[in-house]
Amino acid sequence: MRLLLLGFGTVGQGLAELILEKGDEISKTYGFDITVVGISDMLKGSLYNQDGIDLQAALDAVKKDVKIDTLPGKYDGDALSMVKSADADMMVEMTYTDIKTAEPATSHIRAALEKGMHVTTTNKGPVALFFQDLAKLAKAKNALFLYEGTVISGTPLLNLVRETLAGCEIKEVKGILNGTTNYILSKMEEGMSYDVALKKAQELGYAEAVPDADVLGWDALAKATIIANAIFGYDSKPSDFSCKGITEITAEAITEAKARGKRFKLIGKVTREGNKVVGSVAPEEIDMTHPLAGIMGATNAVSVTTDALGDVTIVGPGAGKIETGYSTLVDIIHVGGRK
Ligand code: HSE
Repeated sequence: MRLLLLGFGTVGQGLAELILEKGDEISKTYGFDITVVGISDMLKGSLYNQDGIDLQAALDAVKKDVKIDTLPGKYDGDALSMVKSADADMMVEMTYTDIKTAEPATSHIRAALEKGMHVTTTNKGPVALFFQDLAKLAKAKNALFLYEGTVISGTPLLNLVRETLAGCEIKEVKGILNGTTNYILSKMEEGMSYDVALKKAQELGYAEAVPDADVLGWDALAKATIIANAIFGYDSKPSDFSCKGITEITAEAITEAKARGKRFKLIGKVTREGNKVVGSVAPEEIDMTHPLAGIMGATNAVSVTTDALGDVTIVGPGAGKIETGYSTLVDIIHVGGRK
């Protein structure tokens, strides 16, 4: 499996570490080898080597703040030209989300799929805005378009529904889709101020580059839209759903809710209603006895309501270097391990 990596930031480096650690085992268990032939990163430089890039050397370079294109195989073109000219089986797209335009990621994904190259992405933009188009293109080109890392990336919600709950009718998906806001609400309950809690979430690396994306609910809204598109087969845009963040929740309101046996959680919800799918993001006062009430800190949790099994709940990390890197690795194994 020859891979192109678009983006060599936290997630790209997490994937590289996992490939180094698990590559031999994956080869033995699933019968395919992983070779990274290209890396394109706007800040860290770009490399292309058909024989395989030395991932350890690339990781060592970034650790020392040295550009990776000081290694053999410097590539001078941009990401799009690398996608178009590369001889690779799969592209792993790990650049930052631009939820307004979904570019340049969508153009890169289209170019890869046009060539019949499989794609996995951690970028919410293309899946929230152009999912049905991209899925159709992938099908026409006999390629797989996967996106496990776009929704609560360290917890395999999308694969759970696609693989493990296959055959179930999904009625509702509801949960804590954003770690930063859950962390802030948890810390405010312990007495920390909103500003200090937000700053800590940024320091810990959970928060989006623009924190408004978390605290105003936009990140959870993008994930709810992806759930509507990918799980419910709907052709939705974030603007189709209502969205409210946590900025109006005061410390007093949190204490007062607790005294009544309730806890505020920012809940993303997508529900099938007849032929329609309805989505929303809003703070809810959850009863302390509800499973979602006990989810504290940056942890995410989602309940999937099915016809055959009732509620199936999954809990885990929503972000992180290795966690999000793994979300792409599982998609790579899905493609490479096919018989
Ligand atoms: N900023 C997001 C969160 C992580 O706090 O959940 C990536 O989606």
